[in-house]
Amino acid sequence: MSILVTGGAGYIGSHTLIALIEAGFEPIVVDNLCNSKKESLKRVEKITGKKIKFYENDVRDAKAMDKIFSKNNIDSVIHFAGLKAVGESVQKPMEYYDNNLTSTFVLIDAMKKHNVKKIVFSSSATVYGASETVPLKEGMPTGATNPYGRTKLFIEEILRDLYVSDNSWSITLLRYFNPIGAHISGTIGEDPKGIPNNLMPYISQVAVGKLEKLHVFGDDYNTADGTGVRDYIHVVDLAAGHVKAVQWVLGNEGCEEINLGTGNGTSVLELKNAFEKASGKDVPFVIDPRRPGDLGEVYADASKAKELLGWEAKLNIERMCEDSWRWQKNNPNGYDK
Ligand code: NAD
Ligand code: WQD
Repeated sequence: MSILVTGGAGYIGSHTLIALIEAGFEPIVVDNLCNSKKESLKRVEKITGKKIKFYENDVRDAKAMDKIFSKNNIDSVIHFAGLKAVGESVQKPMEYYDNNLTSTFVLIDAMKKHNVKKIVFSSSATVYGASETVPLKEGMPTGATNPYGRTKLFIEEILRDLYVSDNSWSITLLRYFNPIGAHISGTIGEDPKGIPNNLMPYISQVAVGKLEKLHVFGDDYNTADGTGVRDYIHVVDLAAGHVKAVQWVLGNEGCEEINLGTGNGTSVLELKNAFEKASGKDVPFVIDPRRPGDLGEVYADASKAKELLGWEAKLNIERMCEDSWRWQKNNPNGYDK
């Protein structure tokens, strides 16, 4: 079965390609490489021993998308393509609305035209907005605190409306918590542009000597050590969740929002300590003020994914740190040689 993977050259997409191939699917990638490198696909080919069909196109390009659907017998779509930097979305809201929403409109149009009605969408735990209640469960109120989050919220609503208008669609809205880690080979991983915004790539760049020290954003939260708590999930577990979601959309009709998290919270200092242990490197740090918009504690109730998809995360924080470090150590400049 062929699965069109938009944004398949990116961090989560590239790991999902491996999981799809291992499960016997044929992934077809469309990516404009605006935040990724073709090298990631080459490395996936090396890991899997399979050639990957790749279209270097923008998902907003309706003609290109029509051609992709005409030339391939696509059974289902995983829609990863999108811009994802929260801070940048505040600076460039129109770019975020255009890229994330227009790509979804064009994709859905092409899917309708070619009678493909099965889609797995990359949503985010960010759709729970400023909720202070944990664990976060799918039925809880949603909200958004920045344009990036609003694009995810809007797309969720749009896809729900689509399902209401035509019940023969099958849609999963996967709400990822905090993906970290890398494939065990250490050959693919997260390759952020410039100075990382997210904690794990920041820690690993300190450990490898590219950044001087970690800035811990606040130690006065109402958590065990005062630093922010998040639900970190290994990207390989996340990839396995996508295979389960694809299997679900192929076998069911409906529209379901599903958390993909571990259900466990880890603080900034706990993650730093685990990373030091896994890497054998020191990660010097300073305590800075809170980052505006951050919450103290965010973690999932992961029970729906288990009940509906038969999926649960397996890999622990130690493994996440070991694998992130292997990728960072072997590729200090990411995919750039
Ligand atoms: P990523 O930037 O590594 O991957 C996204 C890919 O989409 C990139 O390869 C990029 O080149 C491509 N892309 C973007 N706009 C495109 C367009 N218009 N046409 C074609 N390709 C386009 O990001 P990721 O971390 O792999 O995230 C994948 C998805 O998961 C995104 O939608 C993101 O918002 C969502 N998500 C990510 C996280 C996270 O922390 N990484 C958390 C929750 C949700
Ligand atoms: C984690 C913790 C920070 C960096 C973001 C997006 C979210 C989702 C995942 C896409 C927090 C602390 C961080 C640093 C720090 N992405 N921190 N020093 O904010 O939970 O979620 O990525 O959908 O939408 O908002 O992740 O990795 O930025 O932060 O102390 O240099 O680490 O305060 O407690 P976050 P993060």
